[in-house]
Amino acid sequence: MPRLFSGIQPTGALHLGNYLGAVKNWVTLQDQYESIISIVDLHAITIPYDPKTLHERTIGLAIDLIALGIDPKKTKLFTQSHIEEHALLGWLLGTITKLPELNRMTQFKEKAAQHAKSINLGLFAYPVLQAADILLYKAEVVPVGEDQVQHVELTRDIADRFNTVFGTVFPLPKPLLTPTARVMSLDDPTKKMSKSRGEKTCINLADEPEVIQEKLKSAVTDSDPKRAIVFEKSEPAIPNLLRIYQAFTEEKKEVIETHFSGKSYVEFKDEVAEVISLGLSKYRSERAKIASDRTAVERLLKEHAAALRPIAEKTMGEVRMAMGFE
Ligand code: AMP
Ligand code: TRP
Repeated sequence: MPRLFSGIQPTGALHLGNYLGAVKNWVTLQDQYESIISIVDLHAITIPYDPKTLHERTIGLAIDLIALGIDPKKTKLFTQSHIEEHALLGWLLGTITKLPELNRMTQFKEKAAQHAKSINLGLFAYPVLQAADILLYKAEVVPVGEDQVQHVELTRDIADRFNTVFGTVFPLPKPLLTPTARVMSLDDPTKKMSKSRGEKTCINLADEPEVIQEKLKSAVTDSDPKRAIVFEKSEPAIPNLLRIYQAFTEEKKEVIETHFSGKSYVEFKDEVAEVISLGLSKYRSERAKIASDRTAVERLLKEHAAALRPIAEKTMGEVRMAMGFE
């Protein structure tokens, strides 16, 4: 089976964008790929954070991912900082990454603007560490949301350059996107859904059904209250909600459009809220069960890191040889 790698930061509650853009896909793909998912704590520390809660957040995220369907029998789930080779390979790859390449990164520009007082070398080098994550396991596919495509493309460029300069070691990885690779914000459908835009604009996976209903009620729809509820529209709000609805129901576009034909935006948004709540109900109950034994989750993360370490060490052996350290 071809190998898949993806990562997610332990920086706070999961939202609908994380789920529909990435995690849901990981759950589907774990049957078709040798899957490796990392909780990337070394990435999370590139913005100001509280060391007292980092470990708890890592465990909490692992619980969430398992509750959402990541099956530890099919997927290796581990904490990035448990495998030191990530940082070492990141350093080595940094020596073949050009400053203008990093300067172009959209996520760096956004985060630098958000955290203007703490722009640090780690934040700038973030995409190099991400390249190291992927290349350390020689992963071929990287399922992510659309905002991460630029980082995966940079990873390809870095891998290609490494192979040219030092001899072929790495396959060139490809990003893999879902139909909901960019879930938009509820208050402004031109901005991607993100925790940093505020509570009401973003549906958290842990939100109770009533909260989801409330948030949908205040979601933006269309400047013309009479326009049809269809996927192809000049304004993006309704299509965004329709794509969310489709991700949960897995019905065809035409079936969905017929279903909503003649209905009001109020009814439409109520139904969207309902399919989201229903789609997340299993997650909510599983999460409570898994959370009752945190020690088991910690143990699992350690065991999976131990199982992956030989892959990381093997790649590093090849890299050391190719770069002339041995
Ligand atoms: P992060 O929370 O930044 O670690 O993101 C984890 C994953 O969720 C990445 O693959 C992102 O691309 C994806 N993601 C984050 N926000 C969205 C969004 N609004 N729509 C789709 N995917 C997203
Ligand atoms: N940068 C990614 C994000 O913000 C997380 C990440 C780190 C990642 N390393 C990765 C994603 C490797 C895919 C592959 O979401």
